Amino acid sequence: MKPKVLVTRMIPHSGIELLETCCEVEVNAEDRPLTRAELLDRVRDKAGVLGLMADRIDGEFFDAAPHLRGYANYAVGYDNIDVPEATKRRIPVANTPGVLTDATAELAWALLFAVARRVVELDQIMRSGQWSGWGPMQFLGADVCGKTLGIVGAGRIGTAMALMSKGFRMPVLYTNASGRRNEVLEKELGACLVSLEELLERSDYVSLHAPLTPQSRHLFNANTLARMKKTAILINTSRGPLIKEDDLVHALKTGQLSGAGLDVYEFEPRMAEGLAALPNTVLLPHVGSATETTRTNMAILAARNLLAMLRNERPETCLNPEVLAQG
Ligand code: DGY
Repeated sequence: MKPKVLVTRMIPHSGIELLETCCEVEVNAEDRPLTRAELLDRVRDKAGVLGLMADRIDGEFFDAAPHLRGYANYAVGYDNIDVPEATKRRIPVANTPGVLTDATAELAWALLFAVARRVVELDQIMRSGQWSGWGPMQFLGADVCGKTLGIVGAGRIGTAMALMSKGFRMPVLYTNASGRRNEVLEKELGACLVSLEELLERSDYVSLHAPLTPQSRHLFNANTLARMKKTAILINTSRGPLIKEDDLVHALKTGQLSGAGLDVYEFEPRMAEGLAALPNTVLLPHVGSATETTRTNMAILAARNLLAMLRNERPETCLNPEVLAQG
């Protein structure tokens, strides 16, 4: 008998096809996340689940899924998974690092340029017929070449984003929660590992790439935002709760900070009051990995991970391999 698996929301077809080679696959074909009650109900008879970051994978979820042999996250970020709880129960869990690195780093650059050169605001001016002709004092933005780039969290995506700055001749500063030096960035760009305080004080652009952890939640709040240059621009393509969004709105309104480009929000899909009205922001709906190829590669990797777990093998990108090593 084929093992039963649940895919909690429609993903690119190649992932589903792969699962169907060995499993009986149930897909939530509606284009919305399952409610908590629906999720807990549908996992009861499943051996594997391929889920999204909106699905909370915790003790209650595992209790509801007594036959579960593996959970594959369709995301690199895994703050939705209680990994220690999975490990305690000896259930392997996996995520999708690597395949979305470039797409997410590219989007961080798209936001950086869009805010620096006011791309969205000025596009609106053209479309609404408000432009009266060229003027020397009109629509001035910020330079990028030669400005200092601060990378908060120089993991895979932070490193890729920093490496893409090469053509713009930017001095690069970075932080790492582990305090470990990033040899690639140091060798390729002469980047410097600094404290968060120093990075905030010296950077013209600050781009967030740290995972969401209890330590990084609200890392950007009234105090840290106040340490940034008034001319600085903040970019976030990581996780929304890294920023206390009300404090960011205040900093942007009062001119403590020049602009922000956000792809993620503290309480998705909602935004803090006042954010949408600010012209010095560019706001995207969590699309860092949203290219055809990347989303397909995520689907294939997540499906391969789940199939490996169902065979009691170590998935390519396991978050708790010790569970399988224990035998
Ligand atoms: C992730 O993978 O963590 C993104 O936020 C969704 O692609």
